[in-house]
Order: sequence, then structure tokens, then C-alpha cells
Amino acid sequence: MGSWWQFLLLSIPLSLPGDLDYLEGNGGWLTNKYLALMEEDHCTVERRDASLTYSQFIDQYAFSRPVVIQGLTDNSEFQALCTRNKLLAEFGDRVVRLSTANTYSYQKVDVPFQEYVEHLLKPQDLASLGSDTLYFFGDNNFTEWGSLFQKYMPPPFQIPGTSGAYSFGIAGSGSGVPFHWHGPGYSEVIFGRKRWFLYPPEKTPEFHPNKTTLSWLLDTYPFLPPEDRPVECTIHPGEVLYFPDRWWHATLNLDTSVFISTFLG
Ligand SMILES: *[C@@H]1O[C@H](CO)[C@@H](O)[C@H](O)[C@H]1NC(C)=O
Ligand SMILES: *[C@@H]1O[C@H](CO)[C@@H](O)[C@H](O)[C@H]1NC(C)=O
Repeated sequence: MGSWWQFLLLSIPLSLPGDLDYLEGNGGWLTNKYLALMEEDHCTVERRDASLTYSQFIDQYAFSRPVVIQGLTDNSEFQALCTRNKLLAEFGDRVVRLSTANTYSYQKVDVPFQEYVEHLLKPQDLASLGSDTLYFFGDNNFTEWGSLFQKYMPPPFQIPGTSGAYSFGIAGSGSGVPFHWHGPGYSEVIFGRKRWFLYPPEKTPEFHPNKTTLSWLLDTYPFLPPEDRPVECTIHPGEVLYFPDRWWHATLNLDTSVFISTFLG
């Protein structure tokens, strides 16, 4: 088990000189490049560009398989509001509700947003269980954060009979939610990269609900026979991933990431 970046995660001190240039594009959500996770190059989710029409989306993906769509919306204005400095200035004193990063998210903890950003937002500790790792995702107060969410442009392709609900979050590199499923939706990263692992509804993956996605990636993923491998892709700012109803999925933030999902229910 293990790989080179597991070693790096455990052993490289947090700040090394000379690596700040990597970070400048990331809105101040610094991830030391030695603490960012390596990106797996192969994407087995279909990738389409903005020439995908709504009827193609409905016919080819909405009810059958995931897709990554590039350039579907322009959220550069929203991104400019989501830098570390802007969010701290605007929302630093607001209380946010954190969830544990396990499949069933049993535990919730309320802390001021500034405390989360300055003290709790860290790369995933490999020795911790998902059930002991706190993560800011969802449980958003839409009254307090409404001025921000108003600026988000959701993917325009709707699924008849559903409406969208946002879930906004910020999390450290190596963090993520282990396998679970629910209704269909979209996921977008505003800063950072997020790796996705998906299985169709009929193919329940092998996982422990309290372990982190990172430990699943290190301990289980390398030993999966080819027929049991997930469909996967890493998304970047400017792309959205669509997942259909009841598809299993697990996520892994490769960098400190700011992200938003639109759940269609
Ligand atoms: C959301 O924020 C408003 C304004 O601060 C507050 O009155 C309300 O109780 C909050 N809602 C929840 C569910 O925490
Ligand atoms: C996962 O953690 C929760 C909370 O600590 C615990 O109640 C539950 O039994 C654990 N589940 C498994 C399968 O270990």
C-alpha cells in the first residue's frame, strides 16, 4: 500500500521556501505543493464542452451516466468573491456548521467561520477517521450567505420535476466524503481540484463508512480488480460534474478547495 505522496503528506513540513508561485492562482487558499495530492491523469467520465445541448444532456446523461461539462457557466464573478480574504472579511464572524467526513455524517459542530479557516482547515490527517474529521460542507445558512450565493450561476440544464438546492463548502487537501448516494446533482470547484469516484447504483463499492476517502484510495483502490474500478475524474474550476440519481460517489479534494454542489431533488 501507499505511494509517494503518502510519504510526503506525512513527512514534509508545512512551509518550504520557493513554492508560493504555485499558489497564487488559488484565491489565497494556500496548499503547499508538497501537500497537494497528485492528480491521476486518466478521466473515465465523458468530458463534453459547452456545445452540448440540453436535449443531448437529457438523452445521453441525465438518467444514465455522469458527465463533466466544460465552460457551461462563467462563475468568475463568484470566484472573485470566494478568495480567502474576501470570505473572511465578509463572513468571518458568522457561525458555520461543520459535519464529520464520513458516509452518514453523524456529528455536527458549530464554529465561527474564521476559526474554521484559521485553525481547523488543514490537510487530511491520514491517521484520522472520517468520523473524527470536521468538514465545512452543506448546512449553509442561506439567509446569512444569501448575498454570496446570489452571485453563483448554477448549471442551466435542469431535470424536469426537480429543483436545485445549493451546498457550499471549503475543505483541506486530502479531505473528502466517502462513498454515499442520493438524488442527482452537479458539483463544481471554485478554487482547487476535486477527484471524483463513481459507481452505478447496482454496483455497491467496497468501503468502510467511517474511513476517509484518502484511506480508501490508499488501502482499497490499488487492489481493485479492473472490473471493480470506479468511474473517475478530477474536476477543475470552470468544469461541472453531473451525477445521476442514486449513483454511488466519493470525493477527494486534491488542494484546499472551495466548492459548491447543486442537488436536484
Ligand atoms: C440563519 O441566520 C439567521 C440570521 O443570523 C438566523 O436568525 C437563523 O436562525 C439562522 N438559521 C439557522 C438554521 O441557523
Ligand atoms: C462509525 O462511527 C459512528 C460514530 O462514531 C459510530 O456510531 C458507528 O458505529 C461507526 N460505524 C462503523 C461501521 O464502525
